[in-house]
Formats: sequence, C-alpha cells, structure tokens
Amino acid sequence: MSVIDEVKQRTDIVEVIGQYVTLTKSGHNFRGLCPFHSEKHPSFFVYPEQGSWHCFGACATGGDVFSFIMKKENIDFGEALRILAERAGVSLPTRVEPSAKREERERLYQINEAAAQYFHDLLLNAKAGEKARSYVAGRGLSAETLAKFRLGLSLNSWEALKQHLTEIGYAPEELAAAGLTREAEGGKSHDYFRNRLMFPICDLKGNVTGFGARALDDDSMPKYLNSPQTLVFDKSHTLYGINLAAPAIRERDFTVMMEGYMDVITAHQNGFDNAIAAMGTAVTESQINTLKRLSRNLILALDADEAGREAMLRCVGYENILDAEVRVITPPEGKDPDDVIREEPTRWQQLLDKAQPVIDYTFDMTTAGLDMTSARDKTLATDRLLPVISAIKNPIRQAHYLQKLASLVNVDERRLEAELARLKQTPSRYKAPKQEAVSPVPPSITSRPVEEYCLALLLQHPELKGYQAQPSPEHFENSENREIFTGWQKAEDLSVLKASLDPTLLEHFDYLLDYLKKKAVPTNQIERRYADCVLNLRKKYLQGLEVRRAEIFALEAETGGAGADLAKLEAEGIEPSAQLLEVFRQTRHQAKSQGAKE
Ligand code: UTP
Ligand code: MN
Repeated sequence: MSVIDEVKQRTDIVEVIGQYVTLTKSGHNFRGLCPFHSEKHPSFFVYPEQGSWHCFGACATGGDVFSFIMKKENIDFGEALRILAERAGVSLPTRVEPSAKREERERLYQINEAAAQYFHDLLLNAKAGEKARSYVAGRGLSAETLAKFRLGLSLNSWEALKQHLTEIGYAPEELAAAGLTREAEGGKSHDYFRNRLMFPICDLKGNVTGFGARALDDDSMPKYLNSPQTLVFDKSHTLYGINLAAPAIRERDFTVMMEGYMDVITAHQNGFDNAIAAMGTAVTESQINTLKRLSRNLILALDADEAGREAMLRCVGYENILDAEVRVITPPEGKDPDDVIREEPTRWQQLLDKAQPVIDYTFDMTTAGLDMTSARDKTLATDRLLPVISAIKNPIRQAHYLQKLASLVNVDERRLEAELARLKQTPSRYKAPKQEAVSPVPPSITSRPVEEYCLALLLQHPELKGYQAQPSPEHFENSENREIFTGWQKAEDLSVLKASLDPTLLEHFDYLLDYLKKKAVPTNQIERRYADCVLNLRKKYLQGLEVRRAEIFALEAETGGAGADLAKLEAEGIEPSAQLLEVFRQTRHQAKSQGAKE
C-alpha cells in the first residue's frame, strides 16, 4: 500500500472536515454550510463511505480529503499530505535518503531474473532436460507458451544453480536471501529447487519475485514447492500470471481467478489471457485490491471441493471490497480447468458466459440434498445462509438474498430480518476463521480505473495534449490522479512533469506510466480510445453527481426541509442530468461514426 493510501485509510474524512464545518448527519452522509462560499442553506455534503465531499451550491465542486485541505488551507498536495500524514501517525519517506531496502529488493529481482534465465535455458536446451521437455509437451504446452511464461528446469543436483550464480558474481548470502539456496548441516548451503519444472512468479511490473516448482516424478513430495518468503516474495501479495494478464483484464474488464499454475498457463495458451491464480492459499485483501485496480469484475474458477461455506463467506468479503458481484464457475466433476480448456475451449467459454453469482451458487450448494418442506432442513439452510447474507454490505443485494431465502424456506421475511439483526449483534459465533483476510476496506482508498486509463493514455501519448476534448480536473475524484493530471496540463513533457510532482506521487506516476506498456494501443485507435475515455470520465462524474443529488432531493422531500435553495440552483445551473444526456448523445454519435468508418 502506498503511503498515500495508508494516510487515506487512516483518516476519517468526517472528522477532518468537521474541524472546519459544522456537520450534521443526513442519512448515511453529513451536510453543512459550504466553507468555500457563503450560503444560508447547507449544500455541502460529506460522503464517508466514498471518502469524498461535494458542494452542490455555487462551487459545484468536490473531491477527496486531500483536495479539501488543499483548498481550505490553500496549500499544495505535498503539504496537505504531510499535514494529514502527521495527523494519522503515518511517517513519510524523506526525499533524499536513498532507501537501502529498495536497493536490496532490486538486487533480489536481479538474482531471480538470472536464475529464471538459467532454468529456462536448461529446459529448452540441456541434455538433462529431455524428460522435462517431453513432460511439458505431454501437457500440451507450445514453444511460445514456454517462452511467454519462461518455464524452466532445475537440475537434479545440489549445487548447479549455486555454482552458476556464484560464477556470475552473486554472493552466497544473496542466494539465501532470494530463497534459492538453503542452509544445510555444518553451515553449508545447497540449491532449494532440484529436479523440478520451474515457474517464475512475477509482480505486476514483471520483476521475478520467486518460483513455483512442480515435481517431475509423480511420487516426489510436495507436488509443488514454492519459494520461501523473502523480502520480495510474499504469497499473500502475489498473483501468478498477473504481469501477463493485466492488459487483458483491463481490456475485457474482468479477471478469471484459477487455482493452479497449469490452469493459468493453459488458459493463456488458448486465448483466455485474463487468467491469474492465487498461490494455493486463501485469497487475501491485498490480492483483491490488486485486482480491483484492474477491474472490479471477478470470476472464480473453483475446483468443486473448494466450495466450502467458509470459502463462500470469504467471497462475500471480496464482493464488499470490489463493490461488485463475484461469479463462479466449476468445471465438470473430476476435471481441472486445465483439462477442460485443453480439451474443449468452447466449453470453457460457455462456462464463463454462464458464470453464476457467488451467492446464488452458495444457495444451490447449501440446499442441494435438503428437503425444503421439512422444518429441520429449513433451519439448516437458514443457519448456513443467514451468516452469508449478513456479510453482504450492499443493502440492496442483501435485501435481495434475504427475500430469496424467505421464499426458499417459505418463512415470513420479517422473521428472517429479526434473525439477521440478532446475528449482527453476535457476529463472533459465526465468524469464519479466515474472514479477517478480507475485512472490508473503505472504497475511498482504492483507485478509479477510468481515471487511470485516461491518465495512462495521456502520459503515453503526449500528442493528445492538442486534442480538442479534454477532461477537467474535477473529473478526477482521486487526488493523486488529479494532481498528476493538473501537473500534466502545465508541463511540457514527462521529465518536467515528473520533476514537478511531489515525490510521494512518484510511485503512482510510475504505475501509470507502466499501465499501457504491455499492450500498446494501436496508433490509429489512440484518438478514439481517448475520446471514449474522456466521455466515460464525464459520464462517471456526472452520474455520481446525479445520484448524490437525487439523494439530497429525496431527503429534502422527506424532511420537508430547505429544498428551495437547491431547487433554485437546479434552475440556474445546468443540471447534471441534462449534461448526462449530452454525454450519452455524444457516445452514440461516436459509436456511429466509428461504425461508419469500418
Ligand atoms: P493442484 O494440485 O490442484 O495443482 O494445486 P494442479 O495445477 O492441478 O497441478 P497439476 O495439474 O497436477 O500440475 C493447485 C495449486 O495449489 C498450489 C499450487 O499453486 C498449485 O498450482 N499447491 C499445490 C502448492 O503450493 N503445493 C502443493 O503441494 C500443491
Ligand atoms: Mn491439474
């Protein structure tokens, strides 16, 4: 997590803004008199769940907690960050000090890279690689796939890798730190991976962080051996294949999460290149957050035996983080996704198309074999499903599934509601052991994919600066994005931009620069993509405004309050809904002219 995210996560926006504005509760949100212009009726709102604020009055602007402080104190992003960091007790890295940790990391990436090259070369060329080559051929892997995933072979030797890496200049301690060798009796060390098919594991940027390694004989244990935890390898932050899948995940706007290395590789080989795998352990919040930056939509390709109730409870946690429905597919019994894809790719596509919402799937799994006319089974089903329903954060979806359960067991919904309320008071009884792995995080700290895609395009293609339609800073709700955008507007090129940014923004800046590296946009499509993107940004922004505005009016109607001011406003300004209509019209127009060209 970046320091900026950490500061956001530890900052209560209501508390901060509350120091400048007297806020009163209004539904889920808070309202008060706008501190940026003078008004009699409060049209300034704070949204704790989104971590944002908005003035619907004369300012007609909004943003996150950073932009509030910047505007209020008239300071720049860096200063606002420092104030809020101090308040939140987060220490910021200093500008000058070169981080020794960072160098150490770089060194480990290099060693792993060298090891990956060594293993890969052995698999492709070594005499001793005969058996491994026939193994991968037997599993249907093409030469292209071997190269893309850089599969490799570790020799049946105690020192082969160690010797090779020492020869090219790495110290024994470094090999140990990278998890490539391990201490043996008498202070000696030997290779950790021996006689295995090697799967280099990379981070999003493509740095090799560790290895998965499959036994080549069926009786060697364990079947898969992974790198131990190192400075750069931590299973709970790792997703296998993420570096290769990221562009496709963005493009298709969903991820398929599988269970094994082989599943992922076979999926990619068959064109399902938005596939990744967790590391054979429970999926963590950090992994879900990584995915969320790419797309909110997630399909889990589960082995049938994975479908335990606890696993399902965790899925609700994923949904709460992603703020979207998670779907699942299960391959026909007895098969791994790997087998299905290889044997019948079209079948796999059909499975994807028919992926089932995870809660519906849970209902099916739970009630299979139960007799819904018997009191005993009704109680069983309710006992198992209510905790799942209780964990759903989105109120509409929660209500939906409560209704579903009520009609399933044919019990009055109000009775179940009472049960649910009781459950919420005694959550511990039902807490799944690993549930804390995915406790919900506030959506405010997560990024906004459209904003980031748009910025990535701008950074990658300076010529877009001259393009007529441009977003405006308000369209970027996230302060990091907004800062980089306004910096870009002012700077003549990337190096000037980079130099002008607060150093804490550099991590995000690099991330954006990398965003399109793997899959460059074809030259003839850049302008169109950008135009789409600007429209999307506006659409998102206006829709957000519209929703919030609708909330206010509903509230006003309810309380018979001071709606007059707002009504006046509506008459004066161009209301978002009218602007939205315009955006929709343009979207259609663009789609049409695009169609005409083809
Ligand atoms: P599986 O045993 O289902 O692997 O474990 P698979 O992909 O079907 O293996 P093949 O097809 O026989 O080659 C799924 C995942 O669980 C982790 C690995 O990440 C593996 O890909 N795993 C499994 C381990 O980490 N260690 C093990 O001993 C087994
Ligand atoms: Mn398998």
